[in-house]
Amino acid sequence: MIGTTPTRAADPMLSVLQTLRHQLQGALERAWPEAAAAARATGQPLDPQLEPASRPEFGDFQANGALPLAKPLRQSPRAIASAVVERLAADPAFTALCLPPEIAGPGFINLTLRPEVLAAEVARRVGDPRLGVPLATAPPVAGAQAFAGGSDAPVPGDAAVAPIPLDPVIVDFSSPNIAKEMHVGHLRSTIIGDCLARVLEFRGHPVLRLNHVGDWGTQFGMLITHLKEVAPEALERADAIDLGDLVSFYRQAKQRFDTDPAFQAASREEVVRLQGGDPLSLKAWTLLCDQSRREFQRIYDRLDIVVQERGESFYNPLLPAVVDDLRAAGLLVEDAGADCVFLDPDKPPVIVRKSDGGFNYATTDLAAIRWRFAPPPKGDGARRLIYVTDAGQASHFAAVFAVAQRAGWVPPGGRLEHVPFGLVQGDDGKKLKTRSGDTVRLKDLLDEAVQRAEADLRARLAEEGRQEEEAFIQEVATAVGLGAVKYADLSTNRITNYQFRFDRMLALQGNTAPYLLYALVRLAGLARKGGEHFPASAREGSLPPLQFSEPREWALVRHLLSFDAVIVEVEEELLPNRLCGWLFELSQVFNRFYDQVPVLKAPPEARVSRLALCRLTADTLRLGLQLLGIQTLSRM
Ligand code: ARG
Repeated sequence: MIGTTPTRAADPMLSVLQTLRHQLQGALERAWPEAAAAARATGQPLDPQLEPASRPEFGDFQANGALPLAKPLRQSPRAIASAVVERLAADPAFTALCLPPEIAGPGFINLTLRPEVLAAEVARRVGDPRLGVPLATAPPVAGAQAFAGGSDAPVPGDAAVAPIPLDPVIVDFSSPNIAKEMHVGHLRSTIIGDCLARVLEFRGHPVLRLNHVGDWGTQFGMLITHLKEVAPEALERADAIDLGDLVSFYRQAKQRFDTDPAFQAASREEVVRLQGGDPLSLKAWTLLCDQSRREFQRIYDRLDIVVQERGESFYNPLLPAVVDDLRAAGLLVEDAGADCVFLDPDKPPVIVRKSDGGFNYATTDLAAIRWRFAPPPKGDGARRLIYVTDAGQASHFAAVFAVAQRAGWVPPGGRLEHVPFGLVQGDDGKKLKTRSGDTVRLKDLLDEAVQRAEADLRARLAEEGRQEEEAFIQEVATAVGLGAVKYADLSTNRITNYQFRFDRMLALQGNTAPYLLYALVRLAGLARKGGEHFPASAREGSLPPLQFSEPREWALVRHLLSFDAVIVEVEEELLPNRLCGWLFELSQVFNRFYDQVPVLKAPPEARVSRLALCRLTADTLRLGLQLLGIQTLSRM
């Protein structure tokens, strides 16, 4: 990957962290003005090293900078820490945010936010559609660098940042191949890519969701030749005709190609005709693509996924320019008649033009990178390109990214990121297959998830003696079944292989979609019962100052206030499982709170505050699930 950032734990309240960093740095610089000026001159200002506290007993944040500064400042770490604390105590902006700091061990400074600051932040987030998550801002022009600083991305209120429109981010995902099966690997890409796009969109980035379908290449020679033979009437008509099961169509064509030399020769000629723009060949190609597209679309509609098709064929006219550019950059080497880029003399090269003059998968991806970074109208003007595919393509992407970099197509601050994921395995730990050993069709997989969710639901209703409308049962089964499939995929670290197990993903207990959906249903019930006190919107000014007292309340408050941090983390690190884990923890922290602390039966002053906390929990859970692409329910 190019331009990635180091991993960091989630921290409570990004905007506060940012503010406190400034305050601590100010205190440090006021205490040692000369050293500070000298440090600034080298471009490395004195750093208080403020981080989220590693343990709750240390408060909310800890500053670890005194130790490394001991040597350059020629002071003991404790002396440095006390000098900083002394300056902070004199800063009214700081004392309004934090309780008096404590110095621990050799010179760590522990900071605890004032309870009223936390309570006010909860109140601010209740009814705020962004729930405290700032909109992303463009990096200052000179330093795409600052942005590469990861979660230090500027937050609103940072006076230094002018509102520059953001460049598009491209998420290249799903990307099945025409006339072939859309398999579970594509399903993973579809689910993960959609979630990443949702998070980026929520942060305010213009996102181009691109479906880089395999709609071009030599396989079309055999497909079209086969089509012309078995369904010539399809080419006569103006309207579309159903070609039947395209997957078996593909298999038949492939079989003939492998066994029949005449068919093989005809297919080769067909490729040339197609590339030359022959109208009949193009018509056949369009027919094949349209039919596949309709089949893919059914899956996307069902999963509520939006993706814009821009297949490999789009880049076809741009391929010769790629080769020319690489030649002009002095990167091309001819090897056995093929045009190659050698990245590493000991490794096989990237072949950009084969000896027969044909281009390949890598050439198309190079053309795509060039186009995506180039400014409009001859490109997308994007700054960040994200590719969601199985880990098996990691070396392909590493190679094309390196070539693009050397060719100078990556603008300053431009990021190229491959988001790899592992295999989907069956119960037995082997590649997912049906009982008869065939590849699993996505439609069947989704059907089964919904059917099983329905059976579980009917059993639960019978147990509880509940009567429900059929429409309700269908709605819940669909939301739970599809939600479970998505969540199971998103909640594991995507790099590892994952075992596809219906019973586990549909369980009401554990880190599953049903568990989270159920927590939300519990909250919705509370909202119904809490009635007028469940604050509709704090913005309407109806919320009195909130007050919390119980440790379980505070645990929930602190967890809720780290929502902004986890969102920014997913935006940077592209790991949806972090959001899942965070939401799972939220449900657990909430359930612990709700089991122990009275809400509806609380005394009036506490009741309003607790209902507000529940409201924020519900909104956060709902938004979090939406960002995962999971439909939520108010009853189940
Ligand atoms: N069609 C490819 C496949 O099925 C995935 C394409 C991924 N995107 C890309 N720009 N190469 O494996």
